[in-house]
Amino acid sequence: MHMRMLVSGRRVKRWQFFQFLATCFIVSFMVFWGPTANPIVSHMKSFSYRYLINSYDFVNDTLSLKRNTEGAHYPYLINHKEKCQDQHVLLLLFIKTAPENYERRSAIRSTWGNEKYVQSQLNANIKTLFALGTPHPLKGKELQKKLVREDQEYNDIIQQDFVDSFYNLTLKLLLQFNWSNTFCPHAKFLMTADDDIFIHMPNLIEYLQGLEQMGVRDFWIGRVHRGAPPIRDKSSKYYVSYEMYQWPAYPDYTAGAAYVISSDVAAKVHEASQTLNSSLYIDDVFMGLCANKMGIVPQYHVFFSGEGKAPYHPCIYEKMMTSHGHIQDLQDLWKDATDPNVKSISKGFFGQIYCRFIKILLLCRLTYKDTYPCKAAFV
Ligand SMILES: *[C@@H]1O[C@H](CO)[C@@H](O)[C@H](O)[C@H]1NC(C)=O
Ligand SMILES: *[C@@H]1O[C@H](CO)[C@@H](O)[C@H](O)[C@H]1NC(C)=O
Ligand SMILES: *[C@@H]1O[C@H](CO)[C@@H](O)[C@H](O)[C@H]1NC(C)=O
Ligand SMILES: *[C@@H]1O[C@H](CO)[C@@H](O)[C@H](O)[C@H]1NC(C)=O
Repeated sequence: MHMRMLVSGRRVKRWQFFQFLATCFIVSFMVFWGPTANPIVSHMKSFSYRYLINSYDFVNDTLSLKRNTEGAHYPYLINHKEKCQDQHVLLLLFIKTAPENYERRSAIRSTWGNEKYVQSQLNANIKTLFALGTPHPLKGKELQKKLVREDQEYNDIIQQDFVDSFYNLTLKLLLQFNWSNTFCPHAKFLMTADDDIFIHMPNLIEYLQGLEQMGVRDFWIGRVHRGAPPIRDKSSKYYVSYEMYQWPAYPDYTAGAAYVISSDVAAKVHEASQTLNSSLYIDDVFMGLCANKMGIVPQYHVFFSGEGKAPYHPCIYEKMMTSHGHIQDLQDLWKDATDPNVKSISKGFFGQIYCRFIKILLLCRLTYKDTYPCKAAFV
């Protein structure tokens, strides 16, 4: 017993020593290269910073608010407080949408967002909600009235009183944190998704049911961006000033297109969000900062897509979780990908070989195509 403690004590020291050495090396490397514009060097720099930022807490300190002034909440204009009450909820699914995207919402309601389908076909209880701000004031009150009518029919809109715009995406994230922690803290998992995404519900639900049985905690999964540098080009939509974020790399985070967290993470991240300056309007990056502050690390799932579309093929449908950029073809994809016969294609020895071959062909190309990574062909 005593021996063992000694050994583990020494291990910790040695590990700390290596961390110290690595840090010295990285810092000297960064000082040596200075402010060059070479893309390879800048990539190496951001990767080095990634190591530092994921290992230490200084981001925490620079972004923390002195006082909790931004606890200023926007009131709910449309709400469904009772949505989750008195029931077991496997998944609370938030879809980030804009007031004018009626068509997209309606396609989602009849495909992957359909609670009744999930209940009857997959035997799981999920809650699907659309997160919204208000229409731009100049677009008039007509759109707001339409939204209210839409909600009366479907009861699935959660709206807060902030202007719905790209630069207010972090407010939309805070809405989701606030709502889930106030009205649905017992949901096992929280997912946030764009309204132009496809989610393979049967695969996702099966996966989450397995995780629930294992009682996972500290769970955060999606397509992970590692050591991504902030964009300093003022003409970019994603421009971030040094004032907003001073470091050359963001902590690891999952693409906002779709990711899943467990309920304990939802609570921790919500807590962190109240002490960080939320002026950083890129919502998935902000989520990364909150998680980093609480020491939560994202996991990469190869069948979660970022910006990219999955190839259309039954061998892909068998494993896919999400795919981005589906508006016109959502209904067709839903029908094809969730067809029970899809699974039979990869059955048996020859089926497996056939699908392995097809996946290598589709995913491991020499010319880069933004879809699932090559290693997805081998899982
Ligand atoms: C982050 O900063 C807050 C105060 O701003 C502090 O209470 C907290 O312990 C810090 N967290 C970590 C992980 O260092
Ligand atoms: C959520 O927001 C409301 C106001 O919209 C606020 O009163 C409440 O305290 C918030 N809940 C949490 C858990 O932060
Ligand atoms: C974000 O919402 C607030 C509150 O409605 C509004 O004052 C602000 O103009 C919005 N920001 C943008 C960039 O639309
Ligand atoms: C948050 O950061 C912005 C800069 O991005 C700054 O202008 C603002 O004063 C900060 N807010 C607080 C409450 O510190």
